[in-house]
Amino acid sequence: MLVLGIESSCDECAAAIVRDGGKVLSHTIYSQIDTHRRYGGVVPELASREHLDKIIPVIEEAVKEARMSLMDIDGIAVTYGPGLVGSLLVGLSTAKALSFTLGIPFYGVNHLEGHLMAIFLEERYPAFPYLGLVVSGGHTSLYEVKTYGEYRPLGQTRDDAAGEAFDKVAKLLGLGYPGGAIIDRLAQQGDPSAFSFPRAMPSQDTLDFSFSGIKTAVFYFVRRYGETFVRERVHDIVASFQEAVVDSLLNKVLLASARYGIKNVVVSGGVASNSRLRKRLLEVAAGSNLNAYIPSPSLCTDNAAMIAAVGDHYLSQGKSSPLDLNADADLCL
Ligand code: KG4
Ligand code: ZN
Repeated sequence: MLVLGIESSCDECAAAIVRDGGKVLSHTIYSQIDTHRRYGGVVPELASREHLDKIIPVIEEAVKEARMSLMDIDGIAVTYGPGLVGSLLVGLSTAKALSFTLGIPFYGVNHLEGHLMAIFLEERYPAFPYLGLVVSGGHTSLYEVKTYGEYRPLGQTRDDAAGEAFDKVAKLLGLGYPGGAIIDRLAQQGDPSAFSFPRAMPSQDTLDFSFSGIKTAVFYFVRRYGETFVRERVHDIVASFQEAVVDSLLNKVLLASARYGIKNVVVSGGVASNSRLRKRLLEVAAGSNLNAYIPSPSLCTDNAAMIAAVGDHYLSQGKSSPLDLNADADLCL
């Protein structure tokens, strides 16, 4: 089965063609970073307008790259939430129009389910059940993934998402946008133990996360030491901040694994493309007898291949969504 995936929940306009839920034939992304950079964050109105401009060319490119025509597609998978409602509507309306005109079914996919299941696009993937940690710009949520479609929430952030903390700290330090990738790059030349930033709720017996305290600690650090010092030691500062976030994430993964006796762990979402998190997860897993899995970086950040993979699963069971399916900005898993 050939599925066209469409993803437009935030600032990435993406399309992909996936065969039988596992083989990525094409994977096209138009990033809006340049549009939003000058504002230091995603401007929803501009995002939806740009999706309108780019969605058709991006789909055309994905079809061309897969060396086929739209007539070859068996079904369409599209993100219908959570995300920015204007952006979601562009992808969803396009999927409905294509579904209607081509006479093929479409399936509305939860973006978080896409992140959780992206690992099945890799050659190495876990058996069920596994602990699935989604770390993105909007979410930091831990689930027990029992099987496809059965997700037990174990913990989530009580304030900022991990990616949001990266982006806000980068802004605070005047490093530019988008913050996560910039901090990742600068931190590679820094000492992660140079400064001590708080780990979120380390001693508490909860699987929830919190990142606003780390962000506030960086804010007071800058106020205390001043701009010149921050500029001179920026690599050490971001490496130390990043270490605090990574420790906070991994502490909860270890706690969940011990509590529920689950040895397989999948970490995904934009922050899972962070090189330090990837390295430390593998080290911690090796030291604790866990089996860790992380999708390749391009399948961690927003993409349409993960949406196509999830859509394939449901479409191949004969399921489809109705043409009156609405976008849901606050969709939960
Ligand atoms: O999953 P994603 O692409 O979009 C959402 O669903 O939110 O995640 C975007 C988030 C942003 O906050 C971005 O700064 C962060 O992922 N991010 C990173 C890295 N690359 C992207 N954070 C840390 N290190 C990175 N290399
Ligand atoms: Zn995402």
